[in-house]
Amino acid sequence: MNSILITLKQTTRPHHERLEKKLDLFAPDFSQGDYLRLLIAFWGFYRPIETRLTGLPELRACMPDMLRRIKLPLLSADLRALGVGSDAQEQLPVCRDLPVCDGLAAALGCLYVLEGASLGGQVISRHFNHSLNLNAHNGTAFFTGYGAATGPMWQAFTTRLMAAGADEAALVNSACETFLSLEQWLYPP
Ligand code: HEM
Repeated sequence: MNSILITLKQTTRPHHERLEKKLDLFAPDFSQGDYLRLLIAFWGFYRPIETRLTGLPELRACMPDMLRRIKLPLLSADLRALGVGSDAQEQLPVCRDLPVCDGLAAALGCLYVLEGASLGGQVISRHFNHSLNLNAHNGTAFFTGYGAATGPMWQAFTTRLMAAGADEAALVNSACETFLSLEQWLYPP
C-alpha cells in the first residue's frame, strides 16, 4: 500500500474504532427505529458536506467521477422507503460544524472518510438485510453504495488520491477532522 494510504488508515484508526463502537450497529436490540434515526443523522451530515465538496472545482478536476460518488440520493431513497418523504426531508436538521475542506488536500482527506464508509457499508448492508429484512430497494441503498463496484470504485479513488500529490499533513488532518465532525454530529457532547 502507498505510504499516504497507510498513514491515513493508521492515523484515523482510533477515530474509526471509536465511531464503530458508539454506533454499535450489530447490537441484537438495534431496531428499525434506531436505523431510521441513524439514516436521518447521516442525511444531515452528507447533505451539507457533499454540497461543499461538489462545489470545489479542484476536486471535480481531480476526481472526474465525483458526481457518481454522491450518496445523498441513496440516503433520500432510503428515507422515502422508510416513510420520510421528500418534503419532510427538507425539514431535517443539518450539520453546521463541518470540516473546512477549502482546498484539494482537505477535500481529498474528507472524501477518504466518506468513500471508506462504503467499504464498511458492504458488511453493514448485509447485516441489515438479515436483521431488519431491508434491501437496497427498501432501506439499505446508502450502505449498499456501489454494491459489486465497491472494490473498483475504491481502487479508482485511491489511485487518484495518490496521483494528486496533495499536501499529506493537510490530507490527514482533514480526514481526522471529518471523523470528529461526524462523531460530534451523531453524538453531541
Ligand atoms: C459500525 C460501523 C462500521 C463498520 C462495521 C465498518 C467497517 C469497516 C470495514 C470492514 C472496512 C474495510 C477494512 C479493510 O478492508 O481494510 C472499513 C474501512 C473504512 N471505514 Fe468503516 N466501518 C463502519 C463505519 C464507518 C463510518 C461511519 C465511517 C466514516 C464515515 C467509516 C470509514 C471508513 C474508512 C475511511 C475506511 C477505509 C480504511 C482504509 O482502508 O484506509 N467507517 N470499515
